[in-house]
Amino acid sequence: MTLIAELERTAAGLTAALTDAASAAEAESLRNAYLGRKGELAALMSRLPELPADERPAFGKAANAVKERLNRLLEERLAAFKAEVDNASLSRFDPSMPGRMPERGSLHPLTLVLEEICRILNNLGFETVDGPEAETDFHNFEALNFPRDHPARDMQDTLFLADGLLMRTHTSPMQVRAMLERKKPPVAVIAPGKVYRRDYDQTHSPMFHQVEGLLVDEGVGLAHLRGVLTHLLRELFGPDVTLRFRPSFFPFTEPSVEVDMSCVICRGSGSRADGKGGKETCRVCKGTGWLEILGAGMVDPAVFAAVGFSPACTGFAFGMGVERIAMLKYGIDDLRLFFENDLRFLGRFVK
Ligand code: DAH
Repeated sequence: MTLIAELERTAAGLTAALTDAASAAEAESLRNAYLGRKGELAALMSRLPELPADERPAFGKAANAVKERLNRLLEERLAAFKAEVDNASLSRFDPSMPGRMPERGSLHPLTLVLEEICRILNNLGFETVDGPEAETDFHNFEALNFPRDHPARDMQDTLFLADGLLMRTHTSPMQVRAMLERKKPPVAVIAPGKVYRRDYDQTHSPMFHQVEGLLVDEGVGLAHLRGVLTHLLRELFGPDVTLRFRPSFFPFTEPSVEVDMSCVICRGSGSRADGKGGKETCRVCKGTGWLEILGAGMVDPAVFAAVGFSPACTGFAFGMGVERIAMLKYGIDDLRLFFENDLRFLGRFVK
C-alpha cells in the first residue's frame, strides 16, 4: 500500500472511531492515538524518507491537510458531547421550584412600642434625649429629692457598682440631666431607655424599659399633663380609652399621681363574656375596670432647686414602663417572653 493510501486509511479509521466514541473522554483518547506525537499520523510522517524526493512535498501537504481535517472533526465531536451534558443539566433545572427566600429579621416588640411612644410624643414637640445607664447617686436619687438613707430609696432595689456609680433604677435622672443641660425653661423632653433593679420573678426583670417625659415652662398644670397622657394612650390603645388620676407619692413630684387607664380588655366594665352565655371577671384588670399604667406629677420645687431652676418654674413629669404597655397592647401575659429571644415569639411582631 502506498503511503498516500495509508494516510487515507488512517483518516478513515479515526473518522469511524470518532463516530463510534461514546464520550468526550473516549474522543480525547483517540486524539492521542491518531494525532499525538507518537500517534499514527506521526508514524506515517516519519516514513517520509521512503518516498522518492519529488513525491515528498505533495505527501507532506496531503498529510497536513488530513491532520487539519481530523483536528476539526475532533473539536466538533467534543463540542457535541459538551452540548449534550449542558442540555442534560438544563433539563434537570426546574424553573418552577420556589427559590430560597432570605430570612428577614424583625424589630423586637419592645422596640416597636418604644418607637411608637416616641413618635407620638415627638409629634407633640417633645425631643428625645439619651443618657448613661451607669448613673451617679446625685442624678438618680439626690437631685430627685431622695435624701441619703431616706426610706423612699427602698422602693427602688438598686444595683450598685464598685466605683460609687449605680445602675439607674429609673429614667427620671434624665430629667435632671436635661434641666442641667438646658439651664432654663422651656424644657420638653422624653427619655426612653433601659433601667435596672435587683428584682426577678414572673412580673419583674432586672432590666426593663421606661420612657420618661418632662415639660417645664410657664403656667404648666395638671390639666396639661392629663391632656398629653390622654392623647398618648388613645393613640396607643384606641379612642375609647379614659384616664383616672389617683393621688400617690414620688419624692420628685408634688402632687404626685398614679395614672390608671380604662381596661383595654373589658373596656372598663370589669367583666367579659365567659363563652357560655354568662359573664366572668376580667382577669387583666381583676374586675376593677382599671389598669395602673404610669406614675406622674408636678415637678417638685426641690428638684428645680437641685438643678438651679427658679422656684417659680412649673412643670410636669411622667414615667412609664414599656414592657407593661407592650404586654397590654399585644396581649402578652408573661414578661419573660421579651427576654428569652425565642424567634417563634419575636417573629410575630412585624410592623
Ligand atoms: N421614676 C418612677 C419609677 O420608676 C416613675 C415616675 C413617677 C416618673 C412619677 C416620673 C414621675 O417622672 O413624675 O417608679
